[in-house]
Amino acid sequence: MKTIVVTGGSRGIGLAIAQKFWDESYEVFCLSRFEHPSKENWKYVKCDIRDKKQVEEFAKHLHSKQKKVDTIINNAGIAGSNSLDVDSGDELWYDIIATNLHGPYHVCKALLPLLAHGGSIINITSVLAHTGVPDQTAYCAAKHGLMGFTKALAKNLAEKKITVNAIAPGWVETEMSQKRMDELQLSKSDLCEMVPLKRFINGEEIAQMAYYLAGPNSRGITGQSFVIDGGFLS
Ligand SMILES: NC(=O)c1ccc[n+]([C@@H]2O[C@H](COP(=O)([O-])OP(=O)(O)OC[C@H]3O[C@@H](n4cnc5c(N)ncnc54)[C@H](OP(=O)(O)O)[C@@H]3O)[C@@H](O)[C@H]2O)c1
Repeated sequence: MKTIVVTGGSRGIGLAIAQKFWDESYEVFCLSRFEHPSKENWKYVKCDIRDKKQVEEFAKHLHSKQKKVDTIINNAGIAGSNSLDVDSGDELWYDIIATNLHGPYHVCKALLPLLAHGGSIINITSVLAHTGVPDQTAYCAAKHGLMGFTKALAKNLAEKKITVNAIAPGWVETEMSQKRMDELQLSKSDLCEMVPLKRFINGEEIAQMAYYLAGPNSRGITGQSFVIDGGFLS
């Protein structure tokens, strides 16, 4: 049985990814900050990816069970508005960078010794890994950083035939996007008007791409970003 580790598999895009791989008979480990009920071959582990020690403890646990990891999905992330011309303090900047950039680094570093030869790392970035939005300074910095990490790590791990790619979603209906819509005081239909295909992306569409990138037919693809945004960036 193949094994996948998904960060932030408790809801939203991560949950859709966990579901897809579980349906495809993977053993799934989901890391998130809070407890969630586990089921057969789908385990939730309370692990805050901002904390290197907690991630290392998780890696030790897998090692003690003699598990190999086939796929890592760095999905957990947070967002928030932090314009520099508004006196908003520094806390959000550090928290977004810690979660969205340091988190994937901690996970890749700790799990690398367990990653199977020919395995895959998939980083969930955003369209904001490719463009800027005025009040999303930390989020854009972290996601652009995660894209840079993806490209460098792809070359770093190529010798082990491990592929490293990014999926960059546009609007997906989740708690995160709902919070953003509330902030912007815009509805889903307002936002769809700004998307050429006039719709949001489903978590399942992201999961399908992740499954392809983890599978045997994508072994020649590494260091790339797959933008799934209904044409927003085009
Ligand atoms: N939704 C969109 O429109 C959209 C667009 C582009 C990119 N994305 C990206 O897609 C990813 C998933 O977003 P989403 O919309 O599904 O978000 P979401 O619904 O808010 O879910 C975020 C997930 O991350 C986990 N998480 C947050 N902080 C964590 C931490 N420190 N350690 C471990 N887990 C943590 C949460 O679990 P707990 O709360 O249990 O910790 C939750 O499972 C993010 O990286 C986001 O930036 C989303």
